[in-house]
Amino acid sequence: MSASLDSAARERLAGEYSCALDAYILGADEAALTRACELGRRAVTAGLGVLELALMHHEALRKLLAQRPLSDGDHVVAAAAQFLTEGLSHFEMTLRLDDAVRKANAAAEEANRELESFSYSVAHDLRAPLRCIDGFSKALLEECKTQLDDDGKRYLRYVRESAQRMSQLIDDLLALSRVSRGELDRAHVNLSLIVRSILERLRAAEPARRAELIVQEGVFAHCDARLLTAALENLFGNAWKFTNKRPLARIEFGVEPDKRPAVYFIRDNGAGFDMTYAGKLFGVFQRLHSVQDFEGTGVGLATVQRIVRRHGGRVWAEGAVDRGATFYFILEEPVARA
Ligand SMILES: Nc1ncnc2c1ncn2[C@@H]1O[C@H](COP(=O)(O)OP(=O)(O)O)[C@@H](O)[C@H]1O
Ligand SMILES: [Mg+2]
Repeated sequence: MSASLDSAARERLAGEYSCALDAYILGADEAALTRACELGRRAVTAGLGVLELALMHHEALRKLLAQRPLSDGDHVVAAAAQFLTEGLSHFEMTLRLDDAVRKANAAAEEANRELESFSYSVAHDLRAPLRCIDGFSKALLEECKTQLDDDGKRYLRYVRESAQRMSQLIDDLLALSRVSRGELDRAHVNLSLIVRSILERLRAAEPARRAELIVQEGVFAHCDARLLTAALENLFGNAWKFTNKRPLARIEFGVEPDKRPAVYFIRDNGAGFDMTYAGKLFGVFQRLHSVQDFEGTGVGLATVQRIVRRHGGRVWAEGAVDRGATFYFILEEPVARA
């Protein structure tokens, strides 16, 4: 957005406009008309509106007529109107461009919505045949086990494992597509409370694990509680998973001191990752660890990124192999410095 003109700059522009209009009325040539267009462009760039330019024009014309008696009224009126039309042409172009951009954006949004609902229904419809594959493989293993040799049973177990993994992939993709749907419902949300309940659930699922969980109290954000809960579930699910080989896991949540906008962080002392690939982490299906070492589908961080971006924010990560990882996010654009 361009800033409005200060009064000295406005006066300068008005003076130039007045001279150019005078020149055009005196000897209506192309060069003087081009000048009108140029002045109009400068007015748009400086943030002036159509009405302000029209007033500038009116004022210039009034002054000119006060200085010089009207010898050929028809010519002056026609020339002045032509000059103003030229001056306004840049405004019209800008409006048309805005309109074209708006239409293109609307078309892109519509295409996105269609694609989204297409993938949603495809993913949804894939679940039934998968359940069938898994269910009948299970039935075969249980009810026909006397007819199957060891190889046959092993192959069927592979079929079931693959069907279950695919089913998990589909669930994760559906969750990813769900975070793009619906309106953002922003409120003043206590993130510390959400994080506590997520960590309690993780601990309850594996009570034998030793973990030090440090949650800064009173961390708030202006955000959609449902979406932020989904993002934090993914981030803490990862922190919990990637620390599972540590004798004592350490997972921390907080907000960096004195940063605007607020920078929230999730830190762990787990397996970490190679910073060379830090940019890849947030892509769908991108994983830096093998399924044998750490199970997963690689959709979680893509979901986190989508949620954070919907809030106008950004997420990034820092880590080192075997030295833990820290994920940071902000929920609004940083204010650009002048
Ligand atoms: N806390 C973490 N510590 C180390 N690596 C991580 C951490 N969180 C995410 N990653 C890396 O990013 C990849 C993508 O994460 P994610 O999308 O959540 O997928 P998933 O958890 O299913 O593997 C992970 O496979 C892992 O390689
Ligand atoms: Mg994950």
